[in-house]
Amino acid sequence: MNKIVEVLPDKAALIERSLAVVLSKMHTAIQQSDRCTIALAGGGTPKPLYEAIASQDLPWDKIHVFWGDERYVPPDHPDSNQGMARQAWLDNVPIPEVNIHPMPTDGANPAADAEKHEAHLRKFFKSAAGEFPQFDIILLGIGDDAHTASLFPHTDALQVQDHLVTVGNKDGQPRITFTAPLINHSHCVIFLVAGSGKRPALAQIFAPDADPLTYPARLIQPQGELWWLLDESAGQELEIKD
Ligand code: 6PG
Repeated sequence: MNKIVEVLPDKAALIERSLAVVLSKMHTAIQQSDRCTIALAGGGTPKPLYEAIASQDLPWDKIHVFWGDERYVPPDHPDSNQGMARQAWLDNVPIPEVNIHPMPTDGANPAADAEKHEAHLRKFFKSAAGEFPQFDIILLGIGDDAHTASLFPHTDALQVQDHLVTVGNKDGQPRITFTAPLINHSHCVIFLVAGSGKRPALAQIFAPDADPLTYPARLIQPQGELWWLLDESAGQELEIKD
Protein backbone atom coordinates (compact mmCIF):
# COMPACT_ATOMS: atom_id res chain seq x y z
CA MET A 1 0.00 0.00 0.00
CA ASN A 2 1.21 3.46 -0.93
CA LYS A 3 -0.23 5.96 1.58
CA ILE A 4 -0.31 9.70 0.88
CA VAL A 5 -1.59 12.15 3.52
CA GLU A 6 -2.09 15.84 2.68
CA VAL A 7 -3.51 18.55 4.92
CA LEU A 8 -4.92 21.47 2.92
CA PRO A 9 -5.44 24.96 4.44
CA ASP A 10 -9.23 24.99 4.06
CA LYS A 11 -12.24 23.22 2.47
CA ALA A 12 -11.88 25.08 -0.85
CA ALA A 13 -8.23 23.99 -1.14
CA LEU A 14 -9.22 20.44 -0.18
CA ILE A 15 -11.78 20.34 -3.00
CA GLU A 16 -9.32 21.87 -5.48
CA ARG A 17 -6.64 19.31 -4.57
CA SER A 18 -9.15 16.43 -4.62
CA LEU A 19 -10.25 17.48 -8.11
CA ALA A 20 -6.65 17.48 -9.35
CA VAL A 21 -5.99 14.01 -7.92
CA VAL A 22 -9.26 12.54 -9.23
CA LEU A 23 -8.73 13.99 -12.73
CA SER A 24 -5.19 12.64 -12.80
CA LYS A 25 -6.37 9.15 -11.83
CA MET A 26 -9.20 9.32 -14.37
CA HIS A 27 -6.80 10.21 -17.18
CA THR A 28 -4.38 7.45 -16.17
CA ALA A 29 -7.16 4.86 -16.11
CA ILE A 30 -8.49 5.94 -19.51
CA GLN A 31 -4.98 5.90 -20.98
CA GLN A 32 -4.36 2.40 -19.61
CA SER A 33 -7.72 0.71 -20.12
CA ASP A 34 -9.81 3.10 -22.21
CA ARG A 35 -12.22 3.56 -19.33
CA CYS A 36 -12.38 4.79 -15.73
CA THR A 37 -14.46 3.15 -13.02
CA ILE A 38 -15.09 5.44 -10.05
CA ALA A 39 -17.21 4.75 -6.94
CA LEU A 40 -18.56 7.80 -5.14
CA ALA A 41 -18.86 8.64 -1.48
CA GLY A 42 -22.09 10.01 -0.13
CA GLY A 43 -22.68 12.51 2.63
CA GLY A 44 -21.98 16.22 2.33
CA THR A 45 -18.22 16.60 1.99
CA PRO A 46 -17.79 15.47 -1.62
CA LYS A 47 -20.69 17.50 -3.11
CA PRO A 48 -18.50 20.50 -4.14
CA LEU A 49 -16.02 18.05 -5.67
CA TYR A 50 -18.81 16.54 -7.79
CA GLU A 51 -19.87 20.05 -8.85
CA ALA A 52 -16.27 20.80 -9.85
CA ILE A 53 -15.96 17.55 -11.86
CA ALA A 54 -19.16 18.50 -13.72
CA SER A 55 -17.43 21.62 -15.06
CA GLN A 56 -14.61 19.57 -16.66
CA ASP A 57 -14.47 18.59 -20.32
CA LEU A 58 -14.01 14.81 -20.00
CA PRO A 59 -14.56 11.78 -22.27
CA TRP A 60 -17.85 11.02 -20.51
CA ASP A 61 -18.52 7.90 -22.57
CA LYS A 62 -15.41 6.33 -21.00
CA ILE A 63 -16.32 7.11 -17.40
CA HIS A 64 -18.41 4.68 -15.34
CA VAL A 65 -19.87 5.93 -12.05
CA PHE A 66 -20.79 3.71 -9.11
CA TRP A 67 -21.47 4.36 -5.42
CA GLY A 68 -19.59 2.89 -2.47
CA ASP A 69 -22.75 2.97 -0.39
CA GLU A 70 -26.36 4.06 -0.48
CA ARG A 71 -29.04 4.86 2.00
CA TYR A 72 -32.03 2.54 1.51
CA VAL A 73 -34.26 5.26 0.02
CA PRO A 74 -35.50 6.11 -3.51
CA PRO A 75 -33.15 8.23 -5.65
CA ASP A 76 -35.44 11.26 -5.31
CA HIS A 77 -35.25 11.13 -1.49
CA PRO A 78 -33.22 13.98 0.07
CA ASP A 79 -30.93 11.42 1.77
CA SER A 80 -30.09 9.60 -1.47
CA ASN A 81 -26.38 9.54 -2.35
CA GLN A 82 -27.38 8.81 -5.95
CA GLY A 83 -29.71 11.81 -5.93
CA MET A 84 -27.02 14.11 -4.55
CA ALA A 85 -24.44 13.08 -7.18
CA ARG A 86 -26.96 13.37 -10.03
CA GLN A 87 -28.01 16.85 -8.91
CA ALA A 88 -24.42 18.05 -8.33
CA TRP A 89 -22.79 16.36 -11.33
CA LEU A 90 -24.34 13.64 -13.47
CA ASP A 91 -27.46 15.54 -14.58
CA ASN A 92 -25.18 18.34 -15.81
CA VAL A 93 -22.85 16.38 -18.13
CA PRO A 94 -23.43 14.24 -21.26
CA ILE A 95 -22.57 10.95 -19.55
CA PRO A 96 -24.52 8.01 -21.05
CA GLU A 97 -27.12 6.69 -18.60
CA VAL A 98 -25.70 3.17 -19.08
CA ASN A 99 -22.47 4.45 -17.53
CA ILE A 100 -24.25 5.25 -14.27
CA HIS A 101 -24.55 2.24 -11.98
CA PRO A 102 -26.61 3.11 -8.89
CA MET A 103 -27.14 0.71 -6.01
CA PRO A 104 -30.75 -0.53 -6.25
CA THR A 105 -33.02 0.40 -3.33
CA ASP A 106 -36.39 -0.60 -4.80
CA GLY A 107 -36.31 -4.37 -4.42
CA ALA A 108 -37.96 -6.74 -2.00
CA ASN A 109 -35.46 -5.94 0.76
CA PRO A 110 -31.92 -4.60 1.30
CA ALA A 111 -30.31 -8.07 1.19
CA ALA A 112 -31.92 -8.82 -2.17
CA ASP A 113 -30.78 -5.46 -3.54
CA ALA A 114 -27.24 -6.01 -2.24
CA GLU A 115 -27.19 -9.37 -4.02
CA LYS A 116 -28.58 -7.79 -7.20
CA HIS A 117 -25.91 -5.10 -7.22
CA GLU A 118 -23.17 -7.65 -6.58
CA ALA A 119 -24.38 -9.58 -9.65
CA HIS A 120 -24.35 -6.34 -11.65
CA LEU A 121 -20.77 -5.60 -10.59
CA ARG A 122 -19.62 -9.14 -11.42
CA LYS A 123 -21.24 -8.88 -14.87
CA PHE A 124 -19.79 -5.44 -15.55
CA PHE A 125 -16.26 -6.37 -14.46
CA LYS A 126 -16.56 -9.95 -15.81
CA SER A 127 -15.36 -11.19 -12.42
CA ALA A 128 -16.12 -14.71 -11.26
CA ALA A 129 -17.26 -15.79 -7.80
CA GLY A 130 -14.41 -15.47 -5.34
CA GLU A 131 -12.71 -12.71 -7.37
CA PHE A 132 -12.77 -9.04 -6.39
CA PRO A 133 -13.00 -6.51 -9.25
CA GLN A 134 -10.58 -3.58 -9.10
CA PHE A 135 -12.12 -0.11 -9.27
CA ASP A 136 -9.83 2.58 -10.62
CA ILE A 137 -10.95 5.07 -7.96
CA ILE A 138 -13.04 4.72 -4.80
CA LEU A 139 -13.92 7.95 -2.98
CA LEU A 140 -14.70 7.68 0.73
CA GLY A 141 -15.55 9.88 3.66
CA ILE A 142 -15.55 9.12 7.38
CA GLY A 143 -18.19 9.78 9.99
CA ASP A 144 -17.45 11.26 13.41
CA ASP A 145 -17.63 7.60 14.58
CA ALA A 146 -14.91 6.60 12.08
CA HIS A 147 -17.34 4.66 9.87
CA THR A 148 -16.68 4.72 6.14
CA ALA A 149 -19.03 3.89 3.29
CA SER A 150 -21.80 2.25 5.31
CA LEU A 151 -19.43 0.14 7.37
CA PHE A 152 -20.56 1.21 10.84
CA PRO A 153 -18.90 0.28 14.14
CA HIS A 154 -19.68 -3.19 15.51
CA THR A 155 -22.02 -4.16 12.66
CA ASP A 156 -22.16 -7.44 10.73
CA ALA A 157 -21.07 -5.69 7.52
CA LEU A 158 -17.54 -5.35 8.94
CA GLN A 159 -17.09 -9.11 8.97
CA VAL A 160 -18.19 -9.81 5.38
CA GLN A 161 -15.15 -11.08 3.46
CA ASP A 162 -16.72 -13.21 0.71
CA HIS A 163 -19.00 -10.66 -0.97
CA LEU A 164 -18.60 -7.43 -2.93
CA VAL A 165 -21.72 -5.77 -1.57
CA THR A 166 -23.59 -6.24 1.69
CA VAL A 167 -26.21 -4.66 3.91
CA GLY A 168 -24.99 -1.94 6.27
CA ASN A 169 -26.77 -0.82 9.39
CA LYS A 170 -26.81 2.67 10.78
CA ASP A 171 -28.77 2.73 14.08
CA GLY A 172 -31.22 0.19 12.66
CA GLN A 173 -31.52 1.96 9.31
CA PRO A 174 -30.49 -0.34 6.43
CA ARG A 175 -27.84 0.72 3.93
CA ILE A 176 -26.28 -0.96 0.90
CA THR A 177 -22.48 -0.88 1.03
CA PHE A 178 -19.30 -2.09 -0.62
CA THR A 179 -17.48 -4.51 1.65
CA ALA A 180 -14.02 -3.79 3.05
CA PRO A 181 -12.35 -6.39 0.78
CA LEU A 182 -13.93 -4.88 -2.33
CA ILE A 183 -12.72 -1.41 -1.33
CA ASN A 184 -9.27 -2.83 -0.55
CA HIS A 185 -8.93 -4.24 -4.06
CA SER A 186 -9.22 -0.77 -5.59
CA HIS A 187 -6.27 0.71 -7.50
CA CYS A 188 -6.79 3.98 -5.64
CA VAL A 189 -8.81 4.90 -2.53
CA ILE A 190 -9.22 8.59 -1.74
CA PHE A 191 -10.59 9.74 1.62
CA LEU A 192 -11.90 13.32 1.71
CA VAL A 193 -12.25 14.60 5.27
CA ALA A 194 -13.17 18.11 6.39
CA GLY A 195 -14.12 19.76 9.67
CA SER A 196 -12.96 19.64 13.29
CA GLY A 197 -15.71 17.15 14.12
CA LYS A 198 -13.66 14.46 12.38
CA ARG A 199 -10.52 15.02 14.49
CA PRO A 200 -11.20 12.41 17.21
CA ALA A 201 -12.06 9.77 14.59
CA LEU A 202 -8.91 10.58 12.59
CA ALA A 203 -6.77 10.29 15.73
CA GLN A 204 -8.07 6.72 16.24
CA ILE A 205 -7.81 5.79 12.56
CA PHE A 206 -4.19 6.96 12.44
CA ALA A 207 -3.27 5.60 15.90
CA PRO A 208 -0.62 2.84 15.93
CA ASP A 209 -3.26 0.43 17.15
CA ALA A 210 -7.00 0.69 17.79
CA ASP A 211 -9.91 -1.68 17.28
CA PRO A 212 -11.01 -1.66 13.63
CA LEU A 213 -14.45 -2.91 14.66
CA THR A 214 -14.81 0.27 16.70
CA TYR A 215 -13.11 2.46 14.07
CA PRO A 216 -14.05 0.78 10.76
CA ALA A 217 -12.09 3.14 8.48
CA ARG A 218 -9.02 1.29 9.85
CA LEU A 219 -10.16 -1.71 7.80
CA ILE A 220 -9.34 0.22 4.61
CA GLN A 221 -5.79 -0.85 3.73
CA PRO A 222 -5.92 -1.03 -0.08
CA GLN A 223 -3.34 -2.89 -2.13
CA GLY A 224 -3.09 0.19 -4.35
CA GLU A 225 -2.81 3.86 -3.41
CA LEU A 226 -4.42 5.24 -0.25
CA TRP A 227 -4.92 9.01 -0.23
CA TRP A 228 -6.03 10.97 2.81
CA LEU A 229 -6.96 14.52 1.79
CA LEU A 230 -7.85 16.55 4.87
CA ASP A 231 -8.60 20.18 5.52
CA GLU A 232 -6.72 21.97 8.34
CA SER A 233 -9.73 21.79 10.66
CA ALA A 234 -9.76 18.01 10.45
CA GLY A 235 -6.08 17.32 10.05
CA GLN A 236 -4.32 19.65 12.47
CA GLU A 237 -2.69 17.93 15.49
CA LEU A 238 -2.85 14.62 13.58
CA GLU A 239 0.15 12.41 14.34
CA ILE A 240 1.04 11.27 10.84
CA LYS A 241 3.38 8.27 10.97
CA ASP A 242 4.06 6.14 7.90
C1 6PG B 1 -22.92 8.21 3.55
C2 6PG B 1 -21.47 8.19 3.23
C3 6PG B 1 -20.69 8.18 4.51
C4 6PG B 1 -20.04 9.55 4.54
C5 6PG B 1 -19.66 9.92 5.95
C6 6PG B 1 -19.20 11.37 5.99
O1 6PG B 1 -23.70 7.55 2.88
O2 6PG B 1 -23.24 9.00 4.48
O3 6PG B 1 -21.06 7.43 2.26
O4 6PG B 1 -19.75 7.18 4.65
O5 6PG B 1 -18.89 9.55 3.70
O6 6PG B 1 -20.80 9.75 6.76
O7 6PG B 1 -20.28 12.19 5.67
P1 6PG B 1 -20.08 13.80 5.57
O8 6PG B 1 -19.23 14.02 4.36
O9 6PG B 1 -21.48 14.32 5.39
O10 6PG B 1 -19.41 14.22 6.85
